[in-house]
Amino acid sequence: MRFYVNVDHVATVREARRTDEPDPVRAAMLVELAGADGITVHLREDRRHVSERDVRLLMDTVRTGVNLELAAATDVLDIACDLRPMQATLVPERREEVTTEGGLALGEQGVLEATGEAVDRLSSAGIRTSLFVDPDEKMLELSADLGVTAVELHTGEYANAADQEERDTQLARLCAAAQTAVGLGLAVHAGHGLTYENVTPVAAIAPIEELNIGHSIVSRAVLVGMERAVREMGVLIREARSGVVAF
Ligand code: PXP
Repeated sequence: MRFYVNVDHVATVREARRTDEPDPVRAAMLVELAGADGITVHLREDRRHVSERDVRLLMDTVRTGVNLELAAATDVLDIACDLRPMQATLVPERREEVTTEGGLALGEQGVLEATGEAVDRLSSAGIRTSLFVDPDEKMLELSADLGVTAVELHTGEYANAADQEERDTQLARLCAAAQTAVGLGLAVHAGHGLTYENVTPVAAIAPIEELNIGHSIVSRAVLVGMERAVREMGVLIREARSGVVAF
């Protein structure tokens, strides 16, 4: 299991004052020192948090690997092909959303084509490419048809479940999707809305090989420091994988 930390919201605090602190590049160094396997950043078309400067510096300084989240058909695609991060994750993007609200709507007019073109460009540049999708069979089949290496299962509905029954339903959905994805020859990642309280059952889903977690870790880091926040999440993930935690 690879554990990637998304440092977008370090940049969100910086952009609240449009100054130069806190620096997500410095944060990424602490994240790596705390044992994470990689750094994730979302360079949005509107640059609301992470900037091109951040991604360029991260490419120079990160020792593990950079997973760059981006939307297809944006200028960020050119930047990705130029910088060639270890991995690119294609996500949907809407300017009015607070955060990424759902997986790629591959069944919608134009989305499949735009995503396919982006996958081809990123793959031709030698970048491992993943698609952020809802845990639905149809989305997984369409992803496999595009020849992508991996899918990141959207865990938002699991994370936002109103009660335990709904959480169990969403967890079963994630398990089934992970199995389906493996059957289609896809590597399986997961993320969005994962916290110290809800990460364990997801981390225990055997086919999932990578988790991307941001907001909850940055939130805890404000109170206890980045290294401790990352280590504490790392312990939960490792315990879930070794079956130490019963649930
Ligand atoms: N994975 C993807 C594709 C995302 O867009 C995000 C949010 O930027 C995350 C994971 C991390 O979500 P969170 O900040 O809720 O942990």
